[in-house]
Amino acid sequence: PAPGWAISADVVVVGSGVAGLTVALRCAAAGAKVTVVTKAHLDDGSTRWAQGGIAAALGEGDTPEQHLDDTLVAGVGLCDEDAVRTLVSEGPDAVRRLIATGARFDTDPASGEILLTREGGHHRSRIAHAGGDATGAEVSRALIGAVRAADIELIENALVLDLLNDAEGRTAGVTLHVMGQGRRDGVGAVHARAVVLATGGMGQVFSATTNPAVSTGDGVALALRAGAEVSDIEFVQFHPTVMWLGPDAEGQQPLVSEAVRGEGAYLVDAEGTRFMVGQHELAELAPRDIVAKGIMRRMQETGASHMYLDGRHFGATMWAERFPTILAACRAHGIDPVTGLIPVAPAAHYASGGIRTDLHGRTTVPGLYACGEVACTGVHGANRLASNSLLEGLVFAERIAADVLADRTEPPAEPVIPAPGGAPLLASEARFEVQRIMSAGAGVLRSAESLTVAAGALERLNTAAVEAYDREGKTAEPCVETWESTNLSLVARVLVAAARRREETRGCHWREDRPERDDRDWRRHLVVRLTPHRT
Ligand code: SIN
Repeated sequence: PAPGWAISADVVVVGSGVAGLTVALRCAAAGAKVTVVTKAHLDDGSTRWAQGGIAAALGEGDTPEQHLDDTLVAGVGLCDEDAVRTLVSEGPDAVRRLIATGARFDTDPASGEILLTREGGHHRSRIAHAGGDATGAEVSRALIGAVRAADIELIENALVLDLLNDAEGRTAGVTLHVMGQGRRDGVGAVHARAVVLATGGMGQVFSATTNPAVSTGDGVALALRAGAEVSDIEFVQFHPTVMWLGPDAEGQQPLVSEAVRGEGAYLVDAEGTRFMVGQHELAELAPRDIVAKGIMRRMQETGASHMYLDGRHFGATMWAERFPTILAACRAHGIDPVTGLIPVAPAAHYASGGIRTDLHGRTTVPGLYACGEVACTGVHGANRLASNSLLEGLVFAERIAADVLADRTEPPAEPVIPAPGGAPLLASEARFEVQRIMSAGAGVLRSAESLTVAAGALERLNTAAVEAYDREGKTAEPCVETWESTNLSLVARVLVAAARRREETRGCHWREDRPERDDRDWRRHLVVRLTPHRT
């Protein structure tokens, strides 16, 4: 439907995690007119679920160069070194500015210094944390407080549908569907000369994920529909230690932070054997893909459905003070980590790839930026280093804000409303079908065969909707759930296509039929761009 209302801003930010809110704050502080739109409530995205912390070379003896080295190793040859250098060198100041914005990190009571812990792939303690294991919640609290106090228009319950362009093809805003917000209800438009996509990840493309229900790949789907380039989409990171709640557990699953291993917990099998020892010099603190593979291999060897984390030696006080969130989640599921083992298995956690950007967050569509998990800045390569994601959101948000503020392009004269795409929406239940297909065929273990089956099933699901639309003009009722299913279906098809093409094992892309890394043919990125048409 055509927009029933329209407002104007200098910049519209889509999404309200660390990336989106930081862009919004920095732009507003410089006097820009900012509108933030978010699909649910301001704190419903992934940021508030982050446990471990923010990685930055803040500790004595640590340097950005060492952080760079660890990030490049984790990324297995596919990081963009300039992007990583930007991340690690601008990271410490970005964290200090976050503190100035109001975030309170855990500090040593005697010295007042920020406490730093370790996580997988880091050779040093460089992870700043808050509330023990509630770093994301604190970051979210501080940023939301600051945004509410600033002169920024906030529109919640707003699903962004498509980009608007001006006559020259430059981004000119977004159309959106707002539900239950009074004066801005229904389908509307925000006209702006810059659009920042900060919509987070796509973990909901799998049945079991650490991501909240809202992580449905909306930003990548929108960018694909707009003709932007998407890169490295096959590299989905599976977090090694997600609480195992049974074989049929679906939806968002409780994370057991890498910081638990960072503080000295062991990974053991049902016999109590520490199976990561001898597999990597860092044992349980190897990069995340290596630990996930170690767990999967041990599960295959022993026929077990999960492994265990042993942190009993921490004792009750340390569990309560250092990991209160995880302790509460364990107890809510009848597990006591003080006296028993925590059952864990890998689950989908983070999209290392996304919408391709340059060092200023610019996508390949003029006026369109991407920031945070939705973006592929090049810092993660084939496997993100633990706790680099909040940092990436902060650092590149500030760069985007600087670029937007420096851009003197005139506001769009008359945005062109995109013609209806002629593509149907999928039914809301299609989401579960996509998830089943993806978990069965494109999860932590992949092969040409499993991916071919997944590609065929996804294609049939989409074709059925397209044919019903062509034949009878029938499409699912437009609402959040049907848009989410449609977006999940699109990103799933693109992800599977990339995973089929990448005939090697690298980082978090693990092909059982191609178990070796192939630097001769595959030390390169897969970039996808759809010609804007029906997707
Ligand atoms: C964790 O706390 O283990 C998650 C950190 C991350 O995903 O970077």
